Amino acid sequence: MKKSIITYIITLCTITGILTSCDDGRIYEEVVQVEREGGSVRLTGTLSGNNHWASGYSIVLAGFADDSEYAKTAKGITTNSNGSVDMTLTGIPSEVNTIEICAINRLRKRIATFYTYEYTEEADTIRIETGEIDASMYHAIQTNVFDRSCTSCHGGSTSAAAGLYLTADRSYNALVNVVADKSEDSLMFVNPCKSEESFLHLVLNTDITANWSMNHIDMVTSHDLLQLIDDWIDNGANIN
Ligand code: HEC
Repeated sequence: MKKSIITYIITLCTITGILTSCDDGRIYEEVVQVEREGGSVRLTGTLSGNNHWASGYSIVLAGFADDSEYAKTAKGITTNSNGSVDMTLTGIPSEVNTIEICAINRLRKRIATFYTYEYTEEADTIRIETGEIDASMYHAIQTNVFDRSCTSCHGGSTSAAAGLYLTADRSYNALVNVVADKSEDSLMFVNPCKSEESFLHLVLNTDITANWSMNHIDMVTSHDLLQLIDDWIDNGANIN
């Protein structure tokens, strides 16, 4: 008898508990917030060169907040046999303000960006269609090093210092497997798989240019970019 009264009281408490919590709007709101946490983007496009990166790098769809070069969120991009991409990145934190197709290193630090989308969180999934993107190591070096720091003298205007053209249409053929005029040891500018025996490496990392008419030692100061060039050479110096 005593036992069934206790059971009755427990049952009553449970039912009351359920009823009151169902009535309690606050709990319902909390559940909704959890479901909607973070924004999402759906990416479609075509990528090339992304599968030939040296180890230690990943080609990702990533979100960055403007105070940091480290990805807040990132997801590896996989392409199908014809290079097309169709993927969704979800749970994007609200402080993210650019979504990028980029190369990151093991620390999730941005090394090179291939595509940028100015991002503000929306309730619906945002669609991004990129068209064709060259996401190769060589293209990353062209845009982040040669275009920014070299072409002003090496071919961007009418002439090229030392006859060396580092513009996008000519840099590969000017550098890879080509003997450098100014190398006393007849090194090639880029000797595939041998960065330390490549004249380009020596020009950017040592003081061999100290008594040239133009000292090159501080032209590229980013350790990440110098490393990228060496890794590209040691990985075979592919064009794509
Ligand atoms: C402000 C102009 C200027 C900029 C910018 C510049 N260079 Fe040069 N570069 C020169 C000049 C001038 C020479 C020839 C120096 C000499 O003969 O004494 C030269 C020579 C070279 C050579 C040797 C060419 C040969 O035939 O052996 C290489 C390699 C080179 N530069 C690479 C670069 C790279 C890579 C960059 C960008 C990171 C760069 N340069 C940026 C002016 C520049």
